Amino acid sequence: MSESQKDMWSEWLLNRRFGGNTERMKAAMDFLYPVRDKVLHNANLGENETLLDVGCGDGLIAFGALEKSKTAKVIFSDVSQDLLNHAQSIAQEMNIIDRCKFICAPAEDHSVIGNESVEVITTRSVLIYVAAKQQAFNEFYRILKPQGRLSIFEPINRFRYPEPSHIFGGYDVTNVSEIAQKVKAVYHKIQPPDNDPMLDFDERDLITFAEKASFKEIHLDLQVEIKPKNNDVSWEVMLRTASNPKIPTLEEAMSEALTPIEIKEFIACLRPLVETKRGVNQSALAYLWAVK
Ligand SMILES: C[S@@+](CC[C@H](N)C(=O)[O-])C[C@H]1O[C@@H](n2cnc3c(N)ncnc32)[C@H](O)[C@@H]1O
Repeated sequence: MSESQKDMWSEWLLNRRFGGNTERMKAAMDFLYPVRDKVLHNANLGENETLLDVGCGDGLIAFGALEKSKTAKVIFSDVSQDLLNHAQSIAQEMNIIDRCKFICAPAEDHSVIGNESVEVITTRSVLIYVAAKQQAFNEFYRILKPQGRLSIFEPINRFRYPEPSHIFGGYDVTNVSEIAQKVKAVYHKIQPPDNDPMLDFDERDLITFAEKASFKEIHLDLQVEIKPKNNDVSWEVMLRTASNPKIPTLEEAMSEALTPIEIKEFIACLRPLVETKRGVNQSALAYLWAVK
């Protein structure tokens, strides 16, 4: 793979999730830093301990841990070698490489790491991409030392999804609901609401996975919000943003599913709603932390 052709995780995490817009990136980080801090708080990382960050991406949690505890060691793990290379070069620049290890492995199979090897495991927005979630929890339990801590954050995407036919991304598109359905069909084909790993679980399932894996102490904090949209997303940025790496941007989905006339009609309805923030945000976020 050439330098310009990164894998889909790297391409999405570093570019497409922000629609190429620095303001959007800043807004995302304003949301993500408190999430990182809460995941690390729940992980209760101690002096000289080793933390394994599963699905580390560009290192949000892992670098946060290295910053929080100057004696901690961190194992960065991900399925994307491009993202691991990216994180490795940051660690080198920061002169903290001697406290870092990098492994390429899926959450559901960390056989490269022995039993009872680390004190802490963290993972943020990774299980949503993992079909074998129970297997991943079993791996976390196996790798943790006795009294080891697991700390997880996952969005509960099943909450209020799929949307009713007249709602598109939180906006009321009653006048063009048939056109909206065609755009939604593009997304549903790639991620069927009934069995896609992003949608096939909720917070109760997370508790059950942890219990079945034999964790002794389990805590879950569910944060639900339903509120008017207040984000300053420009129409152009919305067009170019993909909310996860497996799906097209809105612009791409429209051009795949709609005729030029339908695109015009759809935009005439949706764009003013976006620009005047006349929509509703609905989200459910789960923090789970557990002790072996
Ligand atoms: C939304 S990003 C989150 C990255 C990072 N945890 C963070 O907090 O910013 C999802 C990450 O999960 C990784 N990933 C996807 N499938 C995975 C799997 N089966 N096992 C481990 N990691 C996976 C991706 O490469 C990507 O880095």
